Amino acid sequence: MTQVRLDGRVALVTGAGNGLGRSYAKAFAARGAKVLVNDLGGLAQGGGRDPSVAQAVVDEIVSAGGQAAANGDSVEDGGKIVQSALDHFGRIDILINNAGVLRDAAFHKMTEDDWNVIHRVHLNGAFQVTRAAWPHMRAQGYGRIVMTASGAGVYGNFGQANYSAAKLGLFGLAQALAIEGRSKNVLVNTIAPVAASRLTQTVLPKEVLAVLKPELVTPLVLLLASETCQDTGQLFEVGGGCVARLRWERSAAVAFDPTTEFTPEQLLEDWSTLQSFEGSDHPATVADSFALIGRHAGVKLQLAPQ
Ligand code: NAI
Repeated sequence: MTQVRLDGRVALVTGAGNGLGRSYAKAFAARGAKVLVNDLGGLAQGGGRDPSVAQAVVDEIVSAGGQAAANGDSVEDGGKIVQSALDHFGRIDILINNAGVLRDAAFHKMTEDDWNVIHRVHLNGAFQVTRAAWPHMRAQGYGRIVMTASGAGVYGNFGQANYSAAKLGLFGLAQALAIEGRSKNVLVNTIAPVAASRLTQTVLPKEVLAVLKPELVTPLVLLLASETCQDTGQLFEVGGGCVARLRWERSAAVAFDPTTEFTPEQLLEDWSTLQSFEGSDHPATVADSFALIGRHAGVKLQLAPQ
């Protein structure tokens, strides 16, 4: 069986003081990586700061014989966190964008602050850390990045409009970076995890949480963070010991003569075809998307080369 090892690699895990990130950090160190354990040590809804949170995970790793250092900056200051990894370990190979907070509220009660806090930490935080790590990964011709999305982003969830938007934004960021990073061996994948943590302790029953250990998400993240993984731009649902890959599905097209106009009534006639997904396919790139429209419209639809 192929062994998944991280020897000689430097991993940065954001929000690694609790929950999923803590589990990743410990597992990475156990597989040979040097780990920068980042955590602001704040409150679940944002705000606050406690450097002992990251340090406690470092202490656990070191006492188990691993190598780790603590960093207490916010992901909003991503450059400082990456610099800290470079200062401690001289390079950065793996970045797990994991830090997160929640500000749930029904949309009609959601304040601008609820929206902004979520976007600052999740989407902008991941942007800041990734932007700082990116040139180092490109230059060394090696990088593994994991973004943390959520089922709330993929499917929507009541009371989480802010979080859903930011989480699917992270998937969009990952998809563009997967394309830009591929030629430099910088691979970018996304997970939508489910696990017991302080973010889920109030929304799921105790007996369910008991089964959903963070350690049941970690093996996927280990694999995506390793040299063994050669895939990029993929999205996975993971939790409770299950791992599944998600992709887009496009229904068979309902097509009209592009040289004339068509009416909503004509479209309505074919509405059930769109809803049925009979004869569907799975576009994976913008080129796949354009190909269908171009074919029906009788034009060569493609992006100008970059
Ligand atoms: P958690 O609350 O146990 O861990 C998140 C950590 O991020 C905390 O230790 C917190 O101090 C840290 N953090 C918060 N803001 C930070 C900042 N600005 N800078 C640095 N660190 C910061 O939560 P959990 O569940 O382990 O969440 C990890 C990630 O997984 C989050 O992105 C969350 O949105 C995502 N997620 C979790 C799910 C679950 O079922 N637990 C479901 C879907 C997504």
